[in-house]
Parts: sequence; structure tokens; C-alpha cells
Amino acid sequence: RALVTPYGPWNRLELRAETGSTNEDVATAARTGEPEGLVIVAERQTAGRGRRGRVWQSPARAGLATSVLLRPGEADAHHGWEPAPPSRYGWLPLLAGVALVEAVSQLTELEAALKWPNDLLIGGAKCGGILAEALPAADPGQPPAIVLGIGLNVTLRADELPSNPTGLPATSLRLAGAPVTDRDPLLRALLRALAAWYGRWRAVDGDAEACGLRDVYLDSCDTISRQVRVLLPTGVDLIGEATSVDPDGQLVVRSADGEHRVAAGDILHLR
Ligand code: BTN
Repeated sequence: RALVTPYGPWNRLELRAETGSTNEDVATAARTGEPEGLVIVAERQTAGRGRRGRVWQSPARAGLATSVLLRPGEADAHHGWEPAPPSRYGWLPLLAGVALVEAVSQLTELEAALKWPNDLLIGGAKCGGILAEALPAADPGQPPAIVLGIGLNVTLRADELPSNPTGLPATSLRLAGAPVTDRDPLLRALLRALAAWYGRWRAVDGDAEACGLRDVYLDSCDTISRQVRVLLPTGVDLIGEATSVDPDGQLVVRSADGEHRVAAGDILHLR
């Protein structure tokens, strides 16, 4: 069934039958001054992007491929929001992960968890992911806009799933056992949860601790207390236990030689 119902506090929602990448489409709109709140949803992507340069498969009408435009560095007089400091933007992909877990938990009986930073796991297999991209402002002194892209495998069949470049097996909600047929309620729940968390986060200038985001994130994150292996930008191959996520959204890893902080781009794979 095709997607029909736009939802939201989002100020503009575009549904596209087919596009290259909804992240690219939102970025293009952002470059011409589109305000915060644009949502683009595609039935199918022909060049869907994943993290770390990977491809994201979006076969027709089998998943959710959604991107939203955020401008957290701009004041919002209507909501009474001050600009959030760019050092806190690292929480936005984690915030989207939390919203995705909430949407899946509302509409299915499945137990969804996050692998840090924001892979959506069901039964240890990857069912969704988030790609956050920062778009530099035209004026170099200004903070970037953020494109948050969310992909969820809803009814994909086993033969439509990607072979596992992340080292994780892949799944879809249906393959994991949820009798879902309609993606509209999932899209509505996702956009609603995303708006609610973004509003809470903006209301406290992006302080993830103060708005409760960090606690909720840690509750749904199954990386904590596990052994992880991370290749740091310095070339160091770090093996240790993930103990927490710090106030900037970085993973805290305790290894034999002390504590390390890992930014979202650095992680190779978890064990
Ligand atoms: C990942 O886990 O690697 C992130 C996947 C993100 C996929 C979504 S689908 C909607 C948006 N448009 C894209 O091209 N990518 C994101």
C-alpha cells in the first residue's frame, strides 16, 4: 500500500514516489534557504546513503525513507527557543534513534534496541539506521543546518535485505515477526516522537541530560556494558568495555590503558 498520510507539526511534508536520496533532496532545499521543519519521504530511493559511505537499500513501498531539516543553531521565537550550541548537535542522530525505537515499540510488540550510535536492532539484527549530515551555512560564521535521515525496513523480504556490510545481519519488522502492512502509522508515530524529542531538547538549549534524552537513550542502548572494538582516528585499535555515553553523545570506552571517548564516526564494529 502506498503512503498517504502526512502528519505533523512539521511545516512541510513532501511524499515522493522515487528519488535518489531523501537526504540529498533535503540538503538541496536547505541550500536555497528552506526553513527548519521540511520533511521528505520517499517510497523508493535509487541512491540511498548509509553511514560511512555505505549504500542504503530502499525497495519500493517496503520501508520508510524519511529526512527532516533541522536548524538548531537558529533562535525560534514562536517556540521560545534559543540557538543550541553546535557542540551539542552530536545528540541529534541519537535523538532520532530514540524516536525510532519509540515508534517501533508503539506499533509492534517487537523489542527494539539501539547499537551505539544509532543502529536500530531487533533480535540482534539491523532493522533501521540514521544518517545525520551537517550542511555548512553559506556564511562561515553561522552554525550548520542538520539533515536527519531515517531508514526503517518495514516489509522487506529476506532477498531484499542488504548483505551485511556492517557485520550485522539485517532484518525487517515483518521478518522479525510483526504483522505490519501499513507504513503510515509508523511514519506518523516516528514524526510525532521526533518532534516531541526535538522540542524537549531545544527547550533546554540542546542539553541532553536536562531534557531526559541521555537517560532514555542509555535505557534503549544495548552497547553499554559490552566489549567493543574501535579504530580511533589516531590509528589506535581500541578494545575495551563501553561504559557510558558522555554529555556530548560520545561513547565512553574503558580499556587497559584508561578511559577513551569515541565520536560517532570512529567505531568499526562491536563484539
Ligand atoms: C545507516 O545505518 O547506515 C544509516 C541509514 C540511513 C538511511 C536513510 S533512508 C532516508 C535517508 N536518505 C538517505 O539517503 N539515507 C537516509
